[in-house]
Order: sequence, then C-alpha cells, then structure tokens
Amino acid sequence: MAHVEHQDTAAQAPVVPGRLPLLGHALQLWREPIAFLESLREHGGIVRIDIGTWPVHVLTEPDHVHAVLVQQAQQFGRGRIFDRLRPMFGNGIVTTDGEFHRKQRRMMQPAFHRHHIAEYAEVMCRQAEEMVTSWTAGREVSMVTEARRYALSSVAEMIFSGEMSRPAVAEVHRSLPIVLEGMLVRAVMPKFLDGLPIPYNRRFDAAAARLRRIIDQVIEQYGDGRAKGKGGGEGEGAGEADRQDLLSLLLSSVDLETGEGMSAEQVRDEVIAIMFAGTETSATTLSWIFHELGRHPEVEKRLHAEVDAVVGDRPVRPDDLPRLTYANSVFQETLRLHSPLLFTRRALAPLTLGGVAIPEGAELAYSPHALHRDPALFRDPTRFDPDRWHEDADERPHAHRYVPFGAGQHKCIGDSFAVAEILTAVASVASRWRLVPSPGVTVREVPAGIPQPSELPMIPAARR
Ligand code: HEM
Repeated sequence: MAHVEHQDTAAQAPVVPGRLPLLGHALQLWREPIAFLESLREHGGIVRIDIGTWPVHVLTEPDHVHAVLVQQAQQFGRGRIFDRLRPMFGNGIVTTDGEFHRKQRRMMQPAFHRHHIAEYAEVMCRQAEEMVTSWTAGREVSMVTEARRYALSSVAEMIFSGEMSRPAVAEVHRSLPIVLEGMLVRAVMPKFLDGLPIPYNRRFDAAAARLRRIIDQVIEQYGDGRAKGKGGGEGEGAGEADRQDLLSLLLSSVDLETGEGMSAEQVRDEVIAIMFAGTETSATTLSWIFHELGRHPEVEKRLHAEVDAVVGDRPVRPDDLPRLTYANSVFQETLRLHSPLLFTRRALAPLTLGGVAIPEGAELAYSPHALHRDPALFRDPTRFDPDRWHEDADERPHAHRYVPFGAGQHKCIGDSFAVAEILTAVASVASRWRLVPSPGVTVREVPAGIPQPSELPMIPAARR
C-alpha cells in the first residue's frame, strides 16, 4: 500500500479550536454546519472534530479523500452514520460494507446498465411532460414540491411498474418524505432516544413500517406472477413476470460467482436503499438548478437556445439527452455548488494517512460540499459558472476534486440515472416555460444530507 506509513512516525490530527467539554464541536456543527465544515480546511488536511464525545477525523484535501475512498478503500468500513441507519433500512447496499456489500453491488449493477437507463428515461420523459403540462402561466408553483414529486415518481416507477403496483407507488409518495425527513435526525441523535414514545418517533416508525409492508406485499405478488410465468401460466402472471423494472430485475438476479439469488427480504432492503438514496438527492439538485437559472438570466437564455435547437416544441425524448451539453454543464455546476454535506468511514485497522495517525476504529468523514467550495481547488468557487465544464475550458475540474457522487466501491450507483432524470426535467421545463423567482422571497440554504433550498416559489411564464 503506497500510502500507508508507519504509525510511530505519525502525528495526531490537530483538534479544531472551540472544542467544549462533553459537547465537543456539536454546537458549531448544529448552528452552522455548512460554514463550520467549510472552515475546517484552515486547520489542516486531516483535522479532528468532536461531535459530543464522538471524535471524527475530517479529510479536507482531495488526495486524502481519494486515498480513503479509492486507493485504500479495503481498509475502511461504512462508519457511524450508516450504522445508525441500518436498523431502519436493513442491509441494503447503502448501509453495508465488505464482502456482503460487494456481492450485493455486483447483483444490482445490471439494473443500472445504460440500456436500462434508456428504458427508465422513457418513463421520466412522461413524468416530466405531466409536470410541465400541469402548470398555468402566471400561477405560482413550489419548485421544491414539484421537484420532489417528480423525483419520487421517477424512482417509484423505476422500481415498480404496471397497474399492480399503483398502491405501492401511492404509499411511497405518502411515507417516504416522512422517513427521509426524520432520517438525518435519527442518524445523529443518541440511540436511546429512538424508543421514546413521542409523536415524532411514532410518525417516523409508522411510516417506515408502512413502507416495508407495502414493498413486501408487492414482492409477494411479483413472486406469484413469476411462479405462474415459470409454470407456463398465461395471462397476467406471465406478462407481469416480463417487466423490466428494478424489482423484477432484482428478483431474478443471480450472482455469477456464487450462482445464488437474493432472498425476498434482501430485495426489499435493496429497494428501500434505492428509494432512500435516490429521491431527495435528485429532487434537491433539480430545485437548485431552477434556483440558479432564475438568478442567472444569461445562463437561462443559453439553455433555452440549446433546448430549442435540440428539442423544439415537442416533448423531450431519451435520445435528446446526449445532445444537451450546455444543460449538462448547468447540472454539473449546480451540483458542484450544492453537494452532499458529509459521509463517514471507519478505519478497520490502525494506519497513517498524510502523516497523521489514524487508530483502529477511528471515524473519518469527507464533505463533497466543502471540497467543492475550496478556493485552492476551484477559481472563484462561489461563482455559478457552467462554462467551467465546457470541454475546452482550461480549468476544467480535476477528477479527484469533484466528487458529488463519491468515488470507489461506494460510488453512487444511480449517477447515470440521476443525470438522465435531471436533464429530462430541465429540458422539459425549458422547452415550454421560463421560471421566474417569486418577488420578495429570499431562498436560504437549509442544512440536510444534501443542503436544500428553504423554499422555492416560482412563476411559470409561457415561452411559446
Ligand atoms: C444528484 C443526485 C445524487 C447525488 C448527488 C448522489 C450522491 C451520492 C453519493 C455522494 C454517494 C456515496 C456516499 C458515500 O461515499 O458513502 C451515493 C451513493 C449511493 N447512491 Fe447516490 N446520489 C444521487 C442520486 C442517486 C440516485 C438517483 C440513486 C438511485 C436511483 C442513488 C443511489 C445510490 C446508492 C444505492 C448509493 C450507495 C452505493 C454503494 O454504497 O454501493 N443515488 N450517492
């Protein structure tokens, strides 16, 4: 391992100033998490913060992040945030690590293959068309709500298609937002508070249980359909079995190395993992895109020109997406400025990283959000400038510096799905509407797994 040095020559990570007894840096992190995480780079490439009495080594330089996520990934497990999520979400690929995670990921990967993304994109185009045709010129819409509904539908339709799954899709719309909202609080709050019979916990537990139940029911129905299909049955059973949605792909997937399939319970956990990882992230990114376009009319104008040339006034089609290069730059730049806040890892053995001793069991964290706003890595980092991403740009961001989807064995499995989903929505809106920010509203950045706009009321103005 090129990067592992001997522990005895290593120093301790510097503790970030302002640590209080028992609370550590929890107050700073609680009050202003975004500003606090960004300030850490002033204190070193690997710095220690304490969240209460829980020490975390935060990696503020891209080379260290790359070493942990990619080069030395085998030496790290998931870490505490993921441990706290496991009892709620089970053993899907979002919360697991090691050999089990590798096996599951191998089995899931085909469902995210390019040709399946093209199939999902057909559905996304229909969903986006439904969204933009539901608006009325001059009548304000909440783009946070619209983006969330669209992202939920895209993911739900990817997982379950067909009439039989309608109640499941409806349940996802009802329960998933409650679970996502409570999840972050659960991930950081002490475990003993989970069991308190307060309304907040009850609402959360009930929504999580409803979601699990409905997914179990659909899996059972799919299983029946497959059994009938296999037995040479006709009609609905056999037809349903041929569906190419994620659920049927997972139910029929077999690990090429072991020859084994997944249990129904494991399929359910994977479905929950995808819902949990794939909705709020895309919805939030989409909201920020509309916010940035509303604030940068010159960017919006160029986007409209591109969409007019590629799409015109017909509905968007999946084969339009590769030609939307400026829209893609707008997406990358928005994601640079509005990235996920923090992910953890845990050292499985003692090691030294960048001259700093990391003991066995130590927690590490990286913040795509803070990295992407580092002036040493991006010129004028707070400026929204999609031209950074132009293929001829001289400061086109270096791969290690731009990690909105993470890197290595836990890199986002849904990155291509997210690109298709977001470009489809952006082009569908742009072909028809200009979204004007409602006057007198100040949009703030609210801390969350991926920081969100506090609100985003916009007024559609017809383009044609
Ligand atoms: C703009 C949208 C998205 C962003 C910014 C995003 C970001 C990320 C990041 C940073 C990670 C790695 C976390 C780590 O290092 O521990 C991740 C993992 C993951 N994402 Fe995404 N994601 C997005 C959309 C999606 C979508 C649409 C799906 C599914 C349909 C998805 C499914 C997953 C899964 C399953 C993982 C865990 C992968 C593993 O550990 O093997 N994500 N995502």
